[in-house]
Amino acid sequence: MSNSINLAVLGLGTVGTGVVSLINDNLAELKRRSGYDIRITHVGTRRQRDDIDPSIQQSDDLMSIAASADVDIVIEVIGGTTVAKELILHAIKNGKHVVTANKALLAEHGNEIFALAEANNVHVAYEAAVAGGIPIIKVMREALAANKVEWLAGIINGTGNFIMSEMRDKGRPFADVLAEAQALGYAEADPTFDVEGIDAAHKLALLASIAFGIPLQFDKVYCEGITGITLQDVDYAEELGYRIKHLGFAVRRHQDADDANSASGIELRVHPTLIPQEALLANVNGVKNAVLVNSHPLGQTLYYGDGAGAGATASAVMADVMDLVRVLSANGHGHHVPHLAFVPAALSDTPVLAAEQMVTGYYLRLHALDTPGVLADITRILSDAGINIDAILQKPAHKVGQVPVIILTLPVVESQMNLAIEKIEQLTAITDKVVRIRLDELA
Ligand code: HSE
Repeated sequence: MSNSINLAVLGLGTVGTGVVSLINDNLAELKRRSGYDIRITHVGTRRQRDDIDPSIQQSDDLMSIAASADVDIVIEVIGGTTVAKELILHAIKNGKHVVTANKALLAEHGNEIFALAEANNVHVAYEAAVAGGIPIIKVMREALAANKVEWLAGIINGTGNFIMSEMRDKGRPFADVLAEAQALGYAEADPTFDVEGIDAAHKLALLASIAFGIPLQFDKVYCEGITGITLQDVDYAEELGYRIKHLGFAVRRHQDADDANSASGIELRVHPTLIPQEALLANVNGVKNAVLVNSHPLGQTLYYGDGAGAGATASAVMADVMDLVRVLSANGHGHHVPHLAFVPAALSDTPVLAAEQMVTGYYLRLHALDTPGVLADITRILSDAGINIDAILQKPAHKVGQVPVIILTLPVVESQMNLAIEKIEQLTAITDKVVRIRLDELA
């Protein structure tokens, strides 16, 4: 093997440009750590860029670059699930190792891509796909390899966390903060992926597979975004000692013998959640991401850092490149970590639970007519459904004759809560749809 490793960077958006800059800035350090000259030989870009070193070939023929004989590692950072998929499959078939930041592609087509990579004896590395610069894939696949993961909870969309933090701390309007997140290069090409929770759901599907050894099942992730969260709910939550965060949860559940509505399986869900203000995750603000992993026997560990942006994502891309350089330099006998952390033949068929089977606590906000007995009716319905109330806050009437009532509950199977809310909404004293946000003590 020659003393250099040749990279092709497909895509020169925020991440691709960040990778080019990182290599320029840290060239000597990369060589000191790997023993190789790591250089970009090709970039795939639709339009010629005059800010790129002239020794690097620029072309819009990405398929040719992905198969080029003088490329060792293909870095796919164009995003999307169509052209990117073709490029990656083509690169794999041509014996190239691939590094990608593309969570949407892997969440939706990763089972096929990884199977092809195994068959062709190449690696598809994807540290940059989850939680930006935080090395969570490496930690979960390698450092926690001896643990049994019970649950994980993460703030895994930097844009959404940035928006929620700015709204809460500065009262800034949603659209204004989103525009800033786009300008800073945090948001997806289609920012509805960020604010509707889809980006977080992609990342959660990946995390869940490497946590529990199940095939990727993005289509089974329950998904809610942040667009329905009002400043009113943010304030009520704070008053009760909680904070609303957009979280992804992957939870191993065991059937509760005393609760016929419960089931065994895995919960995969992303949604706004009330968590205690003093929880570390409640204090992860701005573009920061954090993933809290509860595993046996280690217990809880927390991983924190920048979840989006050029530098953070390029750092994760190049960490994968460095790993692959070590594999390449070992002439095929290098370190091989299974793509989804568990050997492919040992993936488990443990079911992902349906949304109605999930178990969480709740914050409920109801608008009630200020009439005698209404609170008694509400609490009777909740108690009949076996739902334990943890706190009630009744605010003075803010419109003539109407009072907002806030109720926090202990964890309950979702189907029971659905039934109770249906009954509450039928009460004549309830004037609006019940607002519900999930709540988790993270204990
Ligand atoms: N749009 C993503 C985020 C980028 O805001 O987290 C990093 O995956």
